[in-house]
Order: sequence, then C-alpha cells, then structure tokens
Amino acid sequence: MGIENYMEQARDQILRKSLMSDEFLDFMRENRLPLDTLMAHYHCAIMEMETKFNVLNRQFSLQYDRNPIESIKVRVKSMESIIKKARRKDIPLNLKSIEKNIRDIAGIRVICSFQDDIYVLADCLLRQDDISLIEVKDYIKTPKPGGYRSLHLIVEIPIFLDTEKKQMKVEVQLRTIAMDFWASLEHKLRYKKNIPSEEASILAKELLECAEISSSLDMRMEKIRNRIAKASLAAAE
Ligand code: GTP
Ligand code: MG
Repeated sequence: MGIENYMEQARDQILRKSLMSDEFLDFMRENRLPLDTLMAHYHCAIMEMETKFNVLNRQFSLQYDRNPIESIKVRVKSMESIIKKARRKDIPLNLKSIEKNIRDIAGIRVICSFQDDIYVLADCLLRQDDISLIEVKDYIKTPKPGGYRSLHLIVEIPIFLDTEKKQMKVEVQLRTIAMDFWASLEHKLRYKKNIPSEEASILAKELLECAEISSSLDMRMEKIRNRIAKASLAAAE
C-alpha cells in the first residue's frame, strides 16, 4: 500500500472514531428536530430548483423543438458527509455555521446532450429574479488538472414556508452526457483506495487523455447538430 493510501485510511479511521465522539453525539441529540427541519428545507430547495429546470426544458421543447436536458439527478448530503466536511474544513459544529459554510448540502446535477445548452440553461436560471448567484466555477473553460469538466454554480433560492421565506443554498452542476460518463468513472478510481500507486497513476493519465478525447467529441457532436439544423432550415426554404 502506498503512503498516500495509508495516510488516507488512517485519516478516515480517525474521522470515523470522531464521528462517534461525545461532541458529535451531543450535537445530534440536541439538534434532532432542527436538523431534520433543516434537511427538509434543503429537500424543498431542490424540488424548487428541479421544477425550474423542468420548466425551462419544457419551454425549449415548445420553442425550439428539442430538449436541452437529458436527465436531472438530485441529492441531499448525508449527515455523515456533512459532519466529515465540517471537520475537514474546521467549520464549527452548529447549525448556523453548517448552513452558512457548507454550500453543497443540496445538490442538483443537470445533464445536457450539448455543451452550448449548459451555458444557455445557466443564463436562463441566473436571469430569474428569485435566484442569487453566489459563485461560479467554470471547469469547462478551465478543466481541473485531472481532466474534470462541468459548470458549477452555487446559488440561493427561496423556499416559502408557513410563516417565512427562507433563502437556501444549492450547488448546481451542469455537464454533458460525455462529461458525466467521464466523471463517474474517474470518481470510481478516486475512491478505490487499494489500487497500487503505479497503476493508479497510469489510470489517471489514461483518464486525462479520455477527457481530452471526450471534449473534442462534444465539440464535433455540437457542430454536427448545428449543420443538421442549418441543412434542414435551408431545405425548408
Ligand atoms: P468539495 O469540498 O468536494 O465540495 O469541493 P469544492 O468545494 O472545492 O468544490 P468543487 O466545485 O471543486 O467540487 C464540487 C463537486 O464537484 C464534488 O463534490 C464532485 O461532485 C465534483 N467534482 C469536482 N472535482 C471533481 C473531479 O475531479 N472528479 C469528479 N469525478 N468529480 C469532481
Ligand atoms: Mg461537494
């Protein structure tokens, strides 16, 4: 086992132990109802966000006769992952600070066929007057060193409760089918800790090359789609 894997495993064990620490157990006990409530609010924020994308998809299909969205995946971070992240980033273990500092508790992943649709959808979303943009990370224009590509937005969206309107943070990841295919495989490599380091670095190189091939495939497919549209328009005239 490589030293990095060993360190990772040791860190994980410590984290697991501390997950069962008195501090953690007290936090869970004292905050059971507020925690459940907060998680329910994140679920609501995701429902609102998913509806927004479904509306855009429906409107596009009426206006342009095509669906920009291939599929949508949503998730709310598990309590274990929230606590792990709070510890990793030295975030105090209380509800206010978790809500303020962990911005990806609610996550929505929007998968498109074509790269240009990603930017069109992001623009449409950000133009809506109830959405506030907190941060953009464009890993399509500037991919991560490993080859990861996607457009990430951290936004705030209101949810309307019985007596109040509450702003909730949501992480939106927009990517193409090809980017999603690549990210799922790369994620597998990232979380398999028992691969010998030499093989892992060969695979990482291979994945980087695949990211470049897949990016150029995205471009070519987009060009083909545009030519089909142009040719069919010309034929109709
Ligand atoms: P986290 O602490 O992991 O949330 O990272 P961050 O706050 O620096 O945000 P970033 O925008 O870099 O990544 C957020 C999410 O994007 C991750 O939780 C993954 O879902 C995805 N992601 C980012 N980088 C990679 C990558 O290299 N490979 C894969 N497969 N997914 C990635
Ligand atoms: Mg994350």
